[in-house]
Amino acid sequence: MSSRRRTTIAVIFGGRSVEHDVSIVTGHQIMKAFPSENDDIVPVYISRDGRWFTGEALSDLDNFRDDDIQRHDGVRSCLLSPDTRHHGLIVDPLAGRFSKSEVRRIDVAFPALHGSHGEDGSIQGLFELADIPYVGYATLGSALANDKIMTKAVLRQAGIPVLDDSWCTRDTWFDRPDAVIEELLARFELPLYVKPATLGSSIGIGRADTEALLRASIDIAANFDRRILIEPAVTKGIEINCSVMGLGDQYEASPLEQPVSWDEFLSYEDKYLRGSEGMKSAERQVPAPISAALTRRIQETSIAAFKAVDGRGIARIDYLVRPDQNELFLNEINTMPGSLAFYLWREDGVTSTDLVQKLVQLARAAHAEKRRNTYDYKTNLVEIASQQGLKGAKGAK
Ligand SMILES: Nc1ncnc2c1ncn2[C@@H]1O[C@H](COP(=O)(O)OP(=O)(O)O)[C@@H](O)[C@H]1O
Ligand SMILES: [Mg+2]
Repeated sequence: MSSRRRTTIAVIFGGRSVEHDVSIVTGHQIMKAFPSENDDIVPVYISRDGRWFTGEALSDLDNFRDDDIQRHDGVRSCLLSPDTRHHGLIVDPLAGRFSKSEVRRIDVAFPALHGSHGEDGSIQGLFELADIPYVGYATLGSALANDKIMTKAVLRQAGIPVLDDSWCTRDTWFDRPDAVIEELLARFELPLYVKPATLGSSIGIGRADTEALLRASIDIAANFDRRILIEPAVTKGIEINCSVMGLGDQYEASPLEQPVSWDEFLSYEDKYLRGSEGMKSAERQVPAPISAALTRRIQETSIAAFKAVDGRGIARIDYLVRPDQNELFLNEINTMPGSLAFYLWREDGVTSTDLVQKLVQLARAAHAEKRRNTYDYKTNLVEIASQQGLKGAKGAK
């Protein structure tokens, strides 16, 4: 056994997102992957309404069968402090007269959150304030990749093939639906796909083969997001996914998977409810049955896309592909892929333990890299301001 200090890793799951339940499963998969003799794993659960908890009982998946996690022994409320001196959780932050709150130091945060308030840069901002190393994309990359409209804008600029698209706000849609439809039909041919800009797991997504369905799909998407993306459907295509891992100038692409057969699209049920462990029992072919040349092209495109959105840690990058035409479109970048895309890396002999440890190592490396920036820049501005009065100092900027 090495003599290195044990690392305390907070695995954070749940969250205020429609993908809350998926995140509970991902969080438990991650916790199970860490060898317990090496590290201290601190489970942190964020409820659907955004309350934070910690405690041993959160390591047992069975305790999540209902929404009342608090009734289990030892579950305590907590928060992640943005104060760099705490460097971790404050447990029982509102403790009363007879109990004390305590600080639980954390070495690395491992967010296992999918979608809003977790995969979108918001919690990454909190880790940045706290100065705690964390797994995965930083704030900008997370926010970009979480937004389907922005992802495509940035990737298009980087020369990566994406489908043409249009988008509107829900206010525009409710104010002028006929104008929106007219514009869409003038520009694109049906069928079209309609998506809320920032959700995942196929929630709120619709395929419209007729104008009536197009209207209905936009109505549905407008329930889920303020901005709605509309793009042409890729017909007679297949889906191919590739995972990328890395940081800085070093990236690796995984073998590819083909998740389902032609023309179908994966619904939430297909993805998560068919088996107990994520998509395990859904149809998936790894490696994907496409040519070596196309495989290589997708892997290269994946690395370029990962870099273009300032990626770090891991992502699963999804494509819509027409192999017979040698045509591919990058569809989306998932910065916290379900099951961490473990099943793809396994093909390269990477175990789930290797994968989580590698991600922790990348988190530490990213943090060390950021330390090279200077944040403390002393000036004599305050001294001048206090001598001259605030009016005089105002003009300094
Ligand atoms: N333009 C498109 N053409 C064909 N199928 C699509 C298109 N966009 C999405 N799909 C199908 O819908 C599914 C969900 O869409 P996606 O953009 O991946 O959203 P999510 O973030 O919910 O996974 C995809 O896996 C694919 O099957
Ligand atoms: Mg998808």
